[in-house]
Amino acid sequence: MKILFATSEAQPLIKTGGLADVSGALPPALQDLGVDCRLLLPGYGPLLDRLGPVREVAHLGGLPGGLEGRLLQGSLPNSTVPVYALDIPVAFQRPGGPYQDVTGHDFPDNAWRFALLGKVAARLAGPATPLDWQPDVLHCNDWQTGLAPAYLHYQGRPTPSVMTVHNLAYQGIFPPHVLANLDLPPQSFQMEGLEYYGNLSFLKSGLYYSDRLTTVSPSYAEEIQGEHLGMGMQGLLANRRGSLRGILNGIDTGDWNPASDLHLPGSYSARAPAGKKQCKAALQQELGLVQEPRAPLFGLIARMTHQKGLDLVLAVAEGIVHRGGQLIMLGTGDKLLEQAVRVTAARHPGRVACFIGYDEGLSHRIEAGADCFLMPSRFEPCGLNQMYSLRYGTPPIVHATGGLRDTVENGVTGFVFAEPSPHSLWLAVERAFDLYSRPAEWKRMMLAGMHKDFSWEHSARQYLGVYQELAPGT
Ligand code: ADP
Ligand code: GLC
Repeated sequence: MKILFATSEAQPLIKTGGLADVSGALPPALQDLGVDCRLLLPGYGPLLDRLGPVREVAHLGGLPGGLEGRLLQGSLPNSTVPVYALDIPVAFQRPGGPYQDVTGHDFPDNAWRFALLGKVAARLAGPATPLDWQPDVLHCNDWQTGLAPAYLHYQGRPTPSVMTVHNLAYQGIFPPHVLANLDLPPQSFQMEGLEYYGNLSFLKSGLYYSDRLTTVSPSYAEEIQGEHLGMGMQGLLANRRGSLRGILNGIDTGDWNPASDLHLPGSYSARAPAGKKQCKAALQQELGLVQEPRAPLFGLIARMTHQKGLDLVLAVAEGIVHRGGQLIMLGTGDKLLEQAVRVTAARHPGRVACFIGYDEGLSHRIEAGADCFLMPSRFEPCGLNQMYSLRYGTPPIVHATGGLRDTVENGVTGFVFAEPSPHSLWLAVERAFDLYSRPAEWKRMMLAGMHKDFSWEHSARQYLGVYQELAPGT
């Protein structure tokens, strides 16, 4: 089975969120099952720096906007999974992140940039590929690769495609005039196609033209067919429910292992959990919190967006401090949320701390050093941090939604609350305080989480099943 996995981020090459974790871990897990899985990514500057030795394997002409590019081949660090980097410096090598400039604004030409990615994915998947390798299935991820199934459709569907929705909130919506520059026929711009309320939607294109749809947890697969979380796509998704599957993400159990995690000042495991205390003391010191070994320490790591429910956490911060707890928040994103987080930390020196920014090492140290993890997301397609928390003996407090509902057992491995409201979250926080004051019971919950198996193998088998439906006999 040959799979081309097209994505806009992959750990450890380039990352803004969970899509990168999945793109960095699922392909090696598929490879372990005997699948020849290869990645296609934009050749961003930092990605090319981290990719190591590469060779040019193709020259690509006739791309949208009359551009030319090169395809460079390297491999995913610490694995033998091949990576094709689409090298078009004018599109992908600029200051800022993958989608935004240094001031946090979307690049104005994102439609064109990610049309290039989709176009090249479709070309590599079809008979006109310049490579001596053609996939049996093209696997696309999120809106950034959403045009690829449309390009394949207008090539006569030579190869089947799968579209995975990691987050329906990001849809890649652009004004209709950009279509003129994207090499798609005008008739694609209709309701039965990529038109969406008068605009062009990259995500809708993927949802409409791909052969199979998956999303990253069974609960989210149900939720997105309804009005509440369907983000306007519920009709199309409900129509395609026969082709839609919810496959829970796994986690990279090599990167996220408290027994061997090099970011930590000490190591521990379910059998020898004592090192966790050392991680907590070091974390309190690192972020200037009062050194109190018995103060329940709550941690949070998130992109700071409305989705993640940070406002709910800020609403209970004072209560946490009053009950003798401590709180650490790590994240970056919405400037108003960042500011509100800073203000809350400044109000409670020594008890509440924050780090605004992106810090891989600190994210590991919070997972290990905190006693309890906060994840009150309003919606969560899968969520990875709650699984990291379970593995690190840091029972999570989660809202009953999407993948959070599918991975945390209320009262057994963590605390699940029903409503995304400060009151509902606060009741769960109080339950955590109460249980924490009964060390034997707390330890039982920690160990129950640490014994859960969230490795990728099981999920990778389910993806393989989807590929086999599309390419039987391979
Ligand atoms: P999402 O993809 O919606 O952001 P996930 O829980 O699936 O949510 O994945 C988020 C990933 O990004 C996790 O690996 C998390 O640790 C990481 N992450 C998010 N923000 C930061 C940050 N500021 N610093 C370090 N890692 C972060
Ligand atoms: C998205 C979702 C998150 C999911 C991740 C990887 O960014 O918000 O819930 O875990 O993608 O699939």
